[in-house]
Amino acid sequence: MTADNASQRTVRINIKRQASPDASPRWEAFDVPCSPGDGTNITSVLEYIAAHPRTVDGVDTTPVTYDAACLEEVCGSCTMVINGHVRQGCSQLVDRLLEEAPEITIEPMSKFPVVRDLAVNRERLFKDFQRIQGWVPIDGSYALGPGPKESPENQDVRYRLSRCMACGCCLEACPQYTFDNDFVGAAVISQVRYFNRHETGSRLEDERLEEMMKPGGVNHCGQAQNCVKVCPKEIPLTESIAEVGRATTRNAFRRIFIK
Ligand code: SF4
Ligand code: SF4
Ligand code: FES
Repeated sequence: MTADNASQRTVRINIKRQASPDASPRWEAFDVPCSPGDGTNITSVLEYIAAHPRTVDGVDTTPVTYDAACLEEVCGSCTMVINGHVRQGCSQLVDRLLEEAPEITIEPMSKFPVVRDLAVNRERLFKDFQRIQGWVPIDGSYALGPGPKESPENQDVRYRLSRCMACGCCLEACPQYTFDNDFVGAAVISQVRYFNRHETGSRLEDERLEEMMKPGGVNHCGQAQNCVKVCPKEIPLTESIAEVGRATTRNAFRRIFIK
């Protein structure tokens, strides 16, 4: 946010705030100076407000709490709802957001419990990654040598799936992902596909598919396809849901005939 007095403007930022997990939400408005073309993003706006916590009514308030880490749309921690769309604060430029509306609104994601202001608790998502054993099961303190070879086609598929940053955008947009159920959502289903396609990771394929066949697994998906539209990493989530769905069906038949 460089100070270019000749072209500096003030941008109105409306933020939905909540003092604690049980507090009622409230809105506060802030005016933030920035110049057109200066590359100011929403994380910089929140930094400015943290340094100048005064509302447009001249009331001193507390700095807005928010998460951020990588500042380059890789960690997913700064995910929030900006102008009604779920996305990352660090990659959203003020100039572009003002093309959508004259003022900018920022809210926390609605599918996770609010910790404070824009910071939410995504523990459910991380527990669901544990539930499907989202890892390659190797451990040891010595060199294991080269792993199995992998085809370029599989590498290509897995590379695209590996870009998931657990941001939660797909869950925010999913009508099936709610507080009163245990649906794992598109990101976790896609990671089942990712690890089951890994030569060594596939040693846990059966356990992962068993999880996918339980309540909250892949059959809970309503095929609304909202998830794939909002994924900032363009992960082919509907392909993943279809592939894991077919794999669970094969697994179910195998169980019938093996018994
Ligand atoms: S396809 Fe629809 S119901 Fe299934 S995970 Fe995506 S948004 Fe949710
Ligand atoms: S699948 Fe996409 S939207 Fe969902 S958590 Fe991963 S990166 Fe975010
Ligand atoms: S800070 Fe990591 S994605 Fe925005």
